[in-house]
Formats: sequence, C-alpha cells, structure tokens
Amino acid sequence: MNDAVTMDKIVSLSRRRGFVFPSSEIYGGMGSTFDYGHYGVLMKNNIRERWFEAMVRNRDDIVAIDSAVILHPKVWEASGHVAGFTDPLIDCRTCKLRFRADKLEDSSCGRKPSKHPGETPECDLTEPRRFNLMFETTVGALQDEGSRAYLRPETAQGIFINFKNVLQIARRKPPFGIAQIGKSFRNEITPGNFLFRVREFEQMEMEYFVPPDEADKWYRYWIDERLNWYRRYGLRDSKLRVREHGPEERSHYSRGTSDIEYEYPIGWSELEGIANRGDFDLTQHTEYSSTKLEYVGQDGERYVPYVIEPAVSIERIMVALLVDAYDEEVVGERERTVLRLHPKMAPVTAAILPLIGKSDDMVAKARSLYEDLRRRHSVEYDDNGAIGRRYRRQDEIGTPWAFTVDEQTLADDTVTVRDRDSLAQERLSIAGVGGWLEDALERGWKSPKGN
Ligand code: GAP
Repeated sequence: MNDAVTMDKIVSLSRRRGFVFPSSEIYGGMGSTFDYGHYGVLMKNNIRERWFEAMVRNRDDIVAIDSAVILHPKVWEASGHVAGFTDPLIDCRTCKLRFRADKLEDSSCGRKPSKHPGETPECDLTEPRRFNLMFETTVGALQDEGSRAYLRPETAQGIFINFKNVLQIARRKPPFGIAQIGKSFRNEITPGNFLFRVREFEQMEMEYFVPPDEADKWYRYWIDERLNWYRRYGLRDSKLRVREHGPEERSHYSRGTSDIEYEYPIGWSELEGIANRGDFDLTQHTEYSSTKLEYVGQDGERYVPYVIEPAVSIERIMVALLVDAYDEEVVGERERTVLRLHPKMAPVTAAILPLIGKSDDMVAKARSLYEDLRRRHSVEYDDNGAIGRRYRRQDEIGTPWAFTVDEQTLADDTVTVRDRDSLAQERLSIAGVGGWLEDALERGWKSPKGN
C-alpha cells in the first residue's frame, strides 16, 4: 500500500471522477471556488447526514435551526466581526501583490518566487493594514451606507440571535444545544489547497448552552465526542490530534479553544475547532438588541449560559476523508487507485453489474436488483465496457461493494459480491442482497491502511 498521497492527486481524481470541478471554468475559472459534481454532492450529503444524525437525531438535548445568510448588520457589530474579523495585510508597491503580514514566511515574492516578500532589494512593502474578511452587499434599491449588509462569515450568530425563540418554543433547559448547517462566506486573502480554504463553504456548527460552572466539563466532553466521530468514520488515529490554543492565539470571544487537527498533505492543520465562548455572544446581543438573552428557571433562577461550540466545514471533512482514503496498489499486473472510504461516507454504496453487458438475461436480472435496491440505498447500475474496467471505476469513486450478475445467476439466482478493500468475492442469493447490505453497513469499518 502506498501512502504517498498528495493534494494534486486528490484534485486530479476529484476532477476526473466528477466529485469537484474548478468553478466558472469556461470563463477561465474563479480562483479557489469550486463546483460539486454528482459524486461530490452524494458525499457531501453523507457528511451532512452523519453529522446531523450524531448531533441532533440521536440526541434529546439538541435541536436544529436554519437561519438567514444575510442578517441585520447590527448582529455583526455585536459579535465583534465588524471591528475585529480582520487579517493584517501588506502590499508590495513594486510587484503589486498583497500578502498576509502574519504569513510572509509562507508567501513568495512576486519578482523572485524563491524569496519571501521583503527579502529582495526591489521589494517595497507597505505597513500592515487591517482588512475585514466579511463580504459586503447592499440590501434594497439604494446603495448607500444605510443599506450595507454582510454575507455571514459563520452560522453561529444566527443561532445566538434565536436563543430566546428556541428556549421558549422547544422548552429547553441548559445544557442544551442548537445546531445549524449552512453556507458561510469569507473573503480569504490566501485561499488555496483545494477545498481546505475557500471563500464560500458549508459550516456545521452547534452551540451548546450550559450552566457557567459546567462549561469546562462540556468543553472536554465535546472535544472527545467530535474526535470519536472522526474515528468512527474511519479517519486513522495517527492522522488525528487535538491541539489546544495558547491565550494569544484565541479569538476575541474564546475562553478556551482546541483544534482537532488532521495531517493533510500540507501538514497538520485545523479540521474542526471546539471553543468555550463563555457568555460573550449572549451578553453582546443583549446589549446591542436590548432583548434579554438569558435562562430563567421555574424557581426564578436566572443566568446567562456559557456556550461550547464545535464548528467545522464540510469541505475540510471532505478533504480529510479523501486524503485518508486515497490508495494506490498493484493487484496482479495492474495498478489500481482506490478510495478506501467508510461505507457510510462513500458516494455510492454498491454497484450492480451484469458480467456481460450485452446479455439481455443478465441485464434484466441486474436491472431488477438495481431497481429494488435504489429505493433504500445509493446504488449505481453499469453495463458499459469490460468488467475489469467497471470495477476499477467503482474503486476510484470508493464504492465498497459490487454485486455481479453472471452465468450462474441465470441458473440459481445467486450473485457475487466483491469487496473493494480485500477484493474477496462471495456468493449470495439475490433475495438476500438487501439484508446483506443493511448488515454490512451496520458493521464497523476500519481503514485497511492501518491506524
Ligand atoms: N463559529 C466559529 C468559527 O467559525 P472558525 O475556526 O473560524 O470558527 C470553524 O471556523 C471551522 O470552519 C473551521 O474549523 C473549518 O473547519 C471551517 N472553515 C473556516 N474557514 C474556512 C474556509 N475558508 N474554508 C473552508 N473551511 C473553513
């Protein structure tokens, strides 16, 4: 097995197999913006579904919300984003490029890419200036100061401003959580590394409201929960770690932040952040909106809950899953590329293949099995080309199992099932395929690439 996975290999496979395309390609592309093809959409749906299941459906203490993307501009004043959601930028008057002042070591000089900005005599750098990462827009017909609004840079604020609604209607008491999945937008200055840092991404955030004296306990609890979620869906232990931020690194609202990091091909980087936001957000919105955001118990007890927040994007999970799954191996004389994805994350759960695409009898049996399975599972029918080529295509998109209808099927109504990882084949009756698949999906899965 070969673990020499690079971001270029992931980008190339994603494009070749229709997971992810560079956006607006026919107009020359739009840097660091991507469109998702069929398999990308199926995989994103799986990531979203697994997260929602773990965070909402399987629990009694968390409810869902779906807030607007464009919120009242005061939300972002209260949250601190208007004043503080900035990166320090430096311009070079010579080459006209713009750099993050805190990332000069990672940037290349516009004239001499082997050097960092500021390292050649021609470099003429400005002093750092603060640049706000929020995308601005205007609302309504007039484009003046009063119509300015922002595309949300995080989904979290849409949760805080609905705290009172949810508390009343869902009749919850801390500890309880509100979860949201939706697009966020950031005018990143140094986007890149495929989907890792993009300007438009889908966040999955959950704000867990707790009594202040329980905040530390729940902070640790959510770090463990989220780490275990990644393990459950097959990310290898050796590629995951938790890194606690030092006080100087934390965001303005944070009383404690830990990143779950994954070892991407670009090195250890943030996959998900878990923060103890204290009472910062509810207190700020109480002050700016004059609506009291606090918990009042039946016995008159009242307090502003602290908030523990696990926050991640589908994009960072998708890159981690693809990187972790990517494998190349030689089987017999042939090399194959295979995505060893967890079966519940793979875009297609099973392929249904007639051995001979030109055999009407095999096609009829395979299609009938396909029609039966597609009502419950993401399955794909394919009768196009040599069987070996069809298997390799399914390997590359990470399909864990292939059911093949062959000569023997016509005689005894059995099919073979081929396992993507071990390549083992076994025979089972067509009538038992549905049940076999349900069981196989419920079995735990560990990456054959090891720990
Ligand atoms: N509400 C807290 C918050 O937004 P963050 O650390 O800025 O915190 C949370 O973002 C998560 O969102 C990150 O851990 C990462 O998974 C994802 N994320 C942030 N910026 C991103 C970007 N430009 N592209 C893709 N994902 C991003």
